Amino acid sequence: MAFLADALSRVKPSATIAVSQKARELKAKGRDVIGLGAGEPDFDTPDNIKAAAVAAIERGETKYTPVSGIPELREAIVRKFKRENNLEYTAAQTIVGTGGKQILFNAFMATLNPGDEVIIPAPYWVSYPEMVALCGGTPVFVATTQENNFKLTPEALEKAITPKTKWFVFNSPSNPSGAAYSHAELKALTDVLVKHDQVWILTDDMYEHLTYGDFKFATPVEVEPKLYDRTLTMNGVSKAYAMTGWRIGYAAGPLALIKAMDMIQGQQTSGACSIAQWAAVEALNGPQDFIPENKKIFEGRRDLVVSMLNQAKGIACPSPEGAFYVYPSCKGLIGKTAPSGKVIETDEDFVSELLESEGVAVVHGSAFGLGPNFRISYATSEELLEEACKRIQRFCAACK
Ligand SMILES: Cc1ncc(COP(=O)(O)O)c(C=O)c1O
Repeated sequence: MAFLADALSRVKPSATIAVSQKARELKAKGRDVIGLGAGEPDFDTPDNIKAAAVAAIERGETKYTPVSGIPELREAIVRKFKRENNLEYTAAQTIVGTGGKQILFNAFMATLNPGDEVIIPAPYWVSYPEMVALCGGTPVFVATTQENNFKLTPEALEKAITPKTKWFVFNSPSNPSGAAYSHAELKALTDVLVKHDQVWILTDDMYEHLTYGDFKFATPVEVEPKLYDRTLTMNGVSKAYAMTGWRIGYAAGPLALIKAMDMIQGQQTSGACSIAQWAAVEALNGPQDFIPENKKIFEGRRDLVVSMLNQAKGIACPSPEGAFYVYPSCKGLIGKTAPSGKVIETDEDFVSELLESEGVAVVHGSAFGLGPNFRISYATSEELLEEACKRIQRFCAACK
């Protein structure tokens, strides 16, 4: 009898964690390494949110909470969806989890049976396929193209749908590409989805508040209300409120699905951390003015990185609408010889040679299902970004 579960053979370790680990090891050996792999804002959690957590501790809010979340947070989520997305939900239709990650996992756990297919546009956030596989489903990848700014076309979506399709995973703005769908682009996809009753939509709106210029965020049910009864709208405080460590995510959707997710969570972690939930109440109900301030900073960094990368020989970098990632192509470097003498055959070779040669840690695109590209997280200071981009330019120029 094997000790480890068969399910483990279906999952891979996270490539983003592996890159951070390698960067840490090189740093420990005394190398000067700039890590652009992390998927979290470098800003601190705003003071009013921290104060709400301290007040919660002092009030003794330190006990188990209801599985789906404290009523105050579920009400704040209802108001958030109304205020920002024009969506109507009752508190009973919401659920709070330990990060957006738990919400996604429990949604798959609650619904997937062997043979069920989940459509995931590539490039994708690394955890979607692994979660689907762990829960016994089959990920179905649909490639996008850099020419179409990494956005799925309605034709490609239509072609991927089968009678076995249970979920379509939608993530805009996207990790890793930063691509965000306009209302019209999303409507073209929802027009396909309304025709296929068996397909549920799992929309991961985690980067909603990080869009730039005059881009306007849209979420599937807002664009196509007919999808209300088969959409789970997921969001969280991690990215918008610089609260990655607090571990609060949430979702709203049809009652039967929320109840099923509640049941799983009740046998798993129970309610999310009580103190973090009170902090999230303040995040959603309190002043929102630092969001546009942070956006301005991110936008400046995006413009800097895109412009400097496009000056690197062999790199082509589109300027995405949102998140804090860019996803340039390194196609122009494939077949070239790195300063170490190694021929760059894949994007993975490119990132490992870049790390060895110039001490810049980025993540290869094939880890996100589409290459030859690489992901840069620009959630770090302009000074470090400028230095990192200079090193990338130098590395590319040195590849012959
Ligand atoms: C697209 C996407 N969805 C979900 C998550 C998970 O967020 P959380 O920190 O709330 O678990 C992340 C975090 O990196 C993400 O990039």
